[in-house]
Amino acid sequence: MTALLTEYSDFDRHTFGPDFVWGTATAAYQIEGAVDRDGRTPSVWDTFSRQKGKIKTGETADVACEFYDRYESDLRLHKELGFDAFRFSLSWSRILPDGVGPKLGGRLNEAGLAFYNRLIDHCLALGMTPWITLYHWDLPQALENKGGWPNRNIVDWFAEFADICTKAFGHKVKHWIILNEPLAFSVLGYFTGQHAPGRRSFRNLLPVIHHTALAQAEGGRIVRQNVPDAQVGTTFSCSPIDPFTASTRDGAAAARVDALMNRLFIEPALGLGYPTKELPFLAGIAKKVAKPGDMERLAFDFDFVGLQHYFRAVVEHSYFMPYLWASQVSPLRRNVSTITEMGWEVYPESMYRIIQQFSQYEGVRKIHITESGAAFYDTVQNGAVNDTARLEYHQNYLYQILRAKRDGLPVTGYFAWTFLDNFEWAEGYRPRFGLVYVDFRTQQRTVKASGRWFQQLLTNQHRLADVNQS
Ligand code: BGC
Repeated sequence: MTALLTEYSDFDRHTFGPDFVWGTATAAYQIEGAVDRDGRTPSVWDTFSRQKGKIKTGETADVACEFYDRYESDLRLHKELGFDAFRFSLSWSRILPDGVGPKLGGRLNEAGLAFYNRLIDHCLALGMTPWITLYHWDLPQALENKGGWPNRNIVDWFAEFADICTKAFGHKVKHWIILNEPLAFSVLGYFTGQHAPGRRSFRNLLPVIHHTALAQAEGGRIVRQNVPDAQVGTTFSCSPIDPFTASTRDGAAAARVDALMNRLFIEPALGLGYPTKELPFLAGIAKKVAKPGDMERLAFDFDFVGLQHYFRAVVEHSYFMPYLWASQVSPLRRNVSTITEMGWEVYPESMYRIIQQFSQYEGVRKIHITESGAAFYDTVQNGAVNDTARLEYHQNYLYQILRAKRDGLPVTGYFAWTFLDNFEWAEGYRPRFGLVYVDFRTQQRTVKASGRWFQQLLTNQHRLADVNQS
């Protein structure tokens, strides 16, 4: 093991306490494949990835990790690595091929429900707790054709989907996450166009933000109503924001970026409204987009918040970025050498700081880290993947979580992003985040050193079983 492990010699699963949840996180479109099987219809990501130039490598997730067919052996491997929770998302268009269900005039796909029933049952049979994410970015194309997130009807479409899923699985699944990173799919999908559906317009931005925030709260209410004994949460991408210099202008730029990246979706859920002081353009929501009663409907008392944290951001004032008047100062410009394949700075202390920042909200009672991880270039040599950099990333970020726990902050779970190397959205398959290496030609799985380290941490085995699988 690395020097770090010796340094953290008190570091095993018991150090985090008996109630701490250990899992990995995944998403349907990134792993399932089988995009046209058993009645599934395209999502916006199927359409987007087929358009020229949208995915850096020109790839699609048509096959991905073939998880749709391999879920049994994959879940066995997940269990062997010692994880007790498995986070996955539901493909909306696998369950509702028309986007809407019978109440709104569409079909319910029994084969789609059956797949998730098999997956859930298998998890439970292995003694792992399933954590469902209702929405991880793969909007049915049928709904995008009707306007997508800028159309206010999305709140009803999503509510029906949430209602159907909780009624179908709620007797077996007690951990529910409403949305995965609302900021990412709203802003990247409808404003900058880097993600599906690839639309770019400022006109859409405020409606998309508002409908997303409404769906977030509405989803929470539906889960609570249909599964009263559930733990209901939702996730946020988040990063501590540092000003590049001590100047007032950079300080103000950092405050604006913080409002956008960290506060935009949690504050309405907490009943605090949108952060309009730092981002005055958001006032347009109340003036032009919202309907009477909406501002109250944005609030929902989540049982936990899921923080998804990877890097810190350093920002400076900029005239080139309208509305935000700020831009990121890249790690390269700051001479930071510890960066991942995504160009993100590895900065473990930011994990402590972001937990601390979110703990300060009165309404945040419980925090799970629902994603954190790193993409580094991997090679298989003699059947092994020696991914020391990823291993150290998890050790160091976990150590900061431990610090936070010891300081009394309410952090109670860690979901590594991610179990298997997979389709990394607009980047294609190149950035590998997995604890398990996937050879996308043969679908062979090889547990990386980072996966082995988790296995040792979680099972306390001194001699590790050979769990590589094909
Ligand atoms: C997303 C994942 C993604 C990961 C790494 C998160 O923003 O939820 O789907 O693969 O980050 O980019």
